[in-house]
Amino acid sequence: MSTLWQSRYAQRNQRMGRSIIRELLKFTQQPDLISFAGGMPAPELLPAERAQDAACRILSEHGSQALQYGPTEGFPPLREFICERMNRYGITAKPGNVFLTTGSQQALDLIGKLLINPGDRVLVEEPTYLGALQAWNAYQAEYVSVPSDDHGLRTDLLEEALRVGPKFMYILPNFQNPGGTTLPLERRLDLVQLSNKYGIPLVEDDPYGALRYEGENLPPLVALDADFQAETGQDGHGFMEGNVVYLGTFSKTLAPGLRIGWVCAPEEVIDRLVMGKQGADLHSSGFDQMLAYEMVKDGFMDEHIQVLRKVYGARRDVMLAALARYFPAGCSWTRPEGGLFLWARVPEWIDTAEMLGEAVQAKVAYVPGFAFFPDPERGRNTMRLNFSNAQPEQIEEGIRRLGGLLRAKISRHNRTEGVISLSEE
Ligand SMILES: Cc1ncc(COP(=O)(O)O)c(C=O)c1O
Repeated sequence: MSTLWQSRYAQRNQRMGRSIIRELLKFTQQPDLISFAGGMPAPELLPAERAQDAACRILSEHGSQALQYGPTEGFPPLREFICERMNRYGITAKPGNVFLTTGSQQALDLIGKLLINPGDRVLVEEPTYLGALQAWNAYQAEYVSVPSDDHGLRTDLLEEALRVGPKFMYILPNFQNPGGTTLPLERRLDLVQLSNKYGIPLVEDDPYGALRYEGENLPPLVALDADFQAETGQDGHGFMEGNVVYLGTFSKTLAPGLRIGWVCAPEEVIDRLVMGKQGADLHSSGFDQMLAYEMVKDGFMDEHIQVLRKVYGARRDVMLAALARYFPAGCSWTRPEGGLFLWARVPEWIDTAEMLGEAVQAKVAYVPGFAFFPDPERGRNTMRLNFSNAQPEQIEEGIRRLGGLLRAKISRHNRTEGVISLSEE
């Protein structure tokens, strides 16, 4: 008798679905389609030659180490390097507070494994990173969503949401994915203060923090929390015993194909996450970690980030100018200070998921906004637009095509409305 697979799947599969972005990426591979859909770095800026030289050196000088099993926590020099980088942003962690994951996507999964019982609530921003929802749906999470405005999470609405008793809060303070928003200092302080008041931990996801194109860096929640603990005399066990689990990644600043992310957290939490990782994959690729370290150890990271800032900052400006030129009245968008995305709103009655088919026919793609909401009925008139991956002239042309589609839709709609109102008169 052949297996009836449907009857064998564990309950957690019911909420698991394919990522709409990964599905979209399949058909956005068509060469003539302009894609604003993925969150991908500019291909021409990926440091392939540097990786090639580094790979040759590693294999000839440390080949047997690179190809052997390694520690779950990750390659020690890379952990130290990460501590030194985080220090620049006021995070004074020790290597024992840091462990390496297979991209920060794995960190999200491990956090779910560690913290979420079926039915537990996770407090998220609305909209939020859909990869986190995808990871935590598998652990049968429920969500408490708090609305955002052009400055990120509305912390004035937070306390009421916290009364529902979420297990933890998931926050993207810098150049949010998908919103492109940056949380101002006062809101960061609100978050830390409320997290401490209610004893509800914060998961701070920061893949884009280094990609700032204007303005000054703001302190990460993990650093503000450490200050708060010290000021209120709760820091009895030294730094990093606090309320925040911080996630970083090399995906946006070096190369996503290396799949290297990290978690910075109290040692007790790291210890637990490491156990979860051992069950998942023993450790992330040792070769990739050594490769990343070899690529960045002599100051390359700073030079490279300068280049990324310049190129992506200019592409952001091209997209903003094109939106102003081609998008019709009734549309609005965020103005990100960094990162890879901006968030556009179109008139209420336009469903961007339905419009995507027409957009792809016009050879342009975006991610419909509903994908970033736990409730897929929300955000139907929004879209996420990426500006790092396409060339400036493609950005201009892609926004022109989208603007054309929107204008045509709006004028059809107005004509229909006009006919109705005339016939009603
Ligand atoms: C907010 C956020 N978190 C996590 C990730 C996962 O990144 P990676 O697994 O490549 O480190 C992404 C990728 O786009 C992201 O935008």
